[in-house]
Amino acid sequence: MSSKSNPRAAGFRRRLAAWYRRAARDLPWRHTRDPWAVAVSEFMLQQTQVSRVLDYYAPFLRRYPTALSLARARPRAVREAWEGLGYYRRAANLHALAKLVVRDYDGRLPSDVEQLQALPGVGHYTAGAVACFAFERRAATVDTNVGRVLGRFFGKAVRRHGGRAAGKSALRRLREFALAIQPRSGKASWEFNQALMELGALICTARKPKCEECPVRTGCEWFGTRR
Ligand code: ADE
Repeated sequence: MSSKSNPRAAGFRRRLAAWYRRAARDLPWRHTRDPWAVAVSEFMLQQTQVSRVLDYYAPFLRRYPTALSLARARPRAVREAWEGLGYYRRAANLHALAKLVVRDYDGRLPSDVEQLQALPGVGHYTAGAVACFAFERRAATVDTNVGRVLGRFFGKAVRRHGGRAAGKSALRRLREFALAIQPRSGKASWEFNQALMELGALICTARKPKCEECPVRTGCEWFGTRR
């Protein structure tokens, strides 16, 4: 399915974008395209609420503004800078990532999803997030929130995406579907992925979704069946 030929996806994109420009939160990592800063934000946002990350993001980047600066740090100092965010394993992975990026990529994060995914602590989601949010590449960023939004709105279309091939996981279908309906241009695809995430965080929440305020309730399969 091409995104251009799917009127439902086109309407979804248009209304989502209009809502995002009006209602999105002003978050610091949305003002940067610095791959290192984006990677730090995504590592922190794994399993931690935005409000909490806001307390740590800027101080951490002041202390470690580049991959090189983190690569040179002592584990104890890194642990201290991460203290309070929890899941310390993420910081250890980020530290290992910084060293690899210095060794293999001259201190600069690659923009290629597969190269990103080979780095410590970087799964499919985080690789897509860095590729899209730092390099404005077309890449899927399907986390739990985004999966819920797409699954609810597009319902059957997601479950059937890619045909009935055996062994295709629901998550893989979601990722392929997300990529298929993503805008072509990098800038629009950056905004599309941020907006999907924002809708999942603010409106299309797991419990008590605010369907009455939802910019895409018209056309939403889930909204249609729950009334
Ligand atoms: N969670 C993960 N990435 C995010 C982003 N870019 N904005 C808001 N929440 C997020």
